[in-house]
Amino acid sequence: MSTQNPNLTYNYKVVRQFAIMTVVWGVVGMSLGVLIAAQLVWPSLNLDLPFTHFGRLRPLHTNAVIFGFGGSALFATSYYVVQRTCQARLISDKLAAFTFWGWTAVIVSAAITLPMGLTSTKEYAELEWPIDILIAVVWITYGVVFFGTITKRSMPHIYVANWFYGGFILTIGVLHILNNLALPVSAFKSYSAYAGVTDAMMQWWYGHNAVGFFLTAGFLGMMYYFVPKQAGRPVYSYRLSIVHFWALIATYVWAGGHHLHYSALPDWAQTASMVMSLILLAPSWGGMINGMMTLSGAWHKLRTDPILRFLVVSLSFYGMSTFEGPMMAIKTVNALSHNTDWTIGHVHSGALGWVAMISFGAVYHMVPKLWGLKEMYSISLINVHFWLATIGTVLYIVAMWVNGIMQGLMWRAINEDGTLTYSFVEALEASYPGYFVRFLGGVIFLSGMLIMAYNVYMTVRQKEAVAQDSAAVQAA
Ligand code: HEM
Ligand code: HEM
Repeated sequence: MSTQNPNLTYNYKVVRQFAIMTVVWGVVGMSLGVLIAAQLVWPSLNLDLPFTHFGRLRPLHTNAVIFGFGGSALFATSYYVVQRTCQARLISDKLAAFTFWGWTAVIVSAAITLPMGLTSTKEYAELEWPIDILIAVVWITYGVVFFGTITKRSMPHIYVANWFYGGFILTIGVLHILNNLALPVSAFKSYSAYAGVTDAMMQWWYGHNAVGFFLTAGFLGMMYYFVPKQAGRPVYSYRLSIVHFWALIATYVWAGGHHLHYSALPDWAQTASMVMSLILLAPSWGGMINGMMTLSGAWHKLRTDPILRFLVVSLSFYGMSTFEGPMMAIKTVNALSHNTDWTIGHVHSGALGWVAMISFGAVYHMVPKLWGLKEMYSISLINVHFWLATIGTVLYIVAMWVNGIMQGLMWRAINEDGTLTYSFVEALEASYPGYFVRFLGGVIFLSGMLIMAYNVYMTVRQKEAVAQDSAAVQAA
């Protein structure tokens, strides 16, 4: 039943801004990914300068892609979805604008401070305390705007996508604040409030849930809105989507210990996190199947609709990485995979295959609507992007699987007298072909991203041309 108010307008300005920044940070972050991939093949590209060194550019890559690209996609889609499904305008345009400028300032600060070597050294939480405070303020404001809009909704029901976005916003706020508690000793130096193994446990409770909530729950919110919309079908099972939500959030928060297998973390905590990681397979696949089955009766659309293809292929990669993750959480498997390129392959099957592809699909879906157009400038360029992204992802992850398993086996091989069969450098030498293939995959993936930037630019320009034409007609 629709209760649509004919006078209702949405705040699309902030959605448009975040959608554009998704593309901008995508190009920046992925170019950095290609650069550091090249540095691993040709070390001279480190240029012997501290700020262009791999060790400083790597966290810049992760911050730019996760928080710049992924974060902007999450802001854009959550603001779009919450308004449309609640039939309500964002509760405050000013606060929404503050989240845009605040978040953009955070990413720009990261781009300045990380190459300078200013870092708290916690992975995915490297930014120093003044920036952490800004993040906390922006994030709380985001929560106020999102939940405030839900409270003034004119639809009685809260659509499931909002549950996922809401879970992501709440959990990331708590994780960010607790993991970053620190004692500042100067403007850009602080020490963690935690020590030793407690610090490690906090860090990976945060780190894993950055994966579980930032890179998963938020993007599942995207999935529950854009897959049914693009397929023109209702969600396959609404009941399953609710079970999916509660099961996923109840399980994810226990699994962080799998990053600390065979460490000083108490053994029982390692085993508990392994068991929770295995259980996590069930809700993850429940969600994936729910998304896939939404296409029942609409599979034929895949032949002609590259946006739907992005969305469906992202779900397949989601299924793949959430099968691989629980396997890697088994202690004996982790004994082989840990610290090898297998982890990097797993990360990017989630990051490129799932996170980036679903974001591409969602942005392509939204952009024409946000600028009042019927469709993107070029559907065939979306199709080219789809194939470049798919081929790039496959090359990347296959190269890393081969490298990872080879490294794990070479590192543990021992001779009859107990000495190591291979030195570390021998394993590194054997990894070069894989590094080159990963670089190639990255270049292909990035070229798809550049095509997307061109397509979005031309679409927005088209809108401006239409506006100018109609102004000229009126003047004549
Ligand atoms: C053109 C695309 C990309 C390329 C070429 C690329 C390349 C790389 C490289 C070379 C590393 C360092 C690996 C190492 O230390 O051995 C890395 C790390 C990482 N990248 Fe990417 N990347 C790309 C896109 C992305 C995207 C879109 C995301 C997230 C949405 C992402 C997330 C990460 C993360 C989380 C790590 C750290 C992994 C870990 O510490 O285990 N990357 N990337
Ligand atoms: C059921 C779901 C999943 C489970 C149980 C899981 C499990 C794991 C395990 C066991 C590791 C290796 C830890 C280590 O040896 O240090 C890992 C690493 C990682 N996973 Fe997953 N994974 C899952 C899904 C995903 C997804 C969907 C993504 C991305 C979108 C992702 C991103 C990452 C990242 C970024 C790391 C590297 C962390 C680091 O910097 O060391 N995971 N995961």
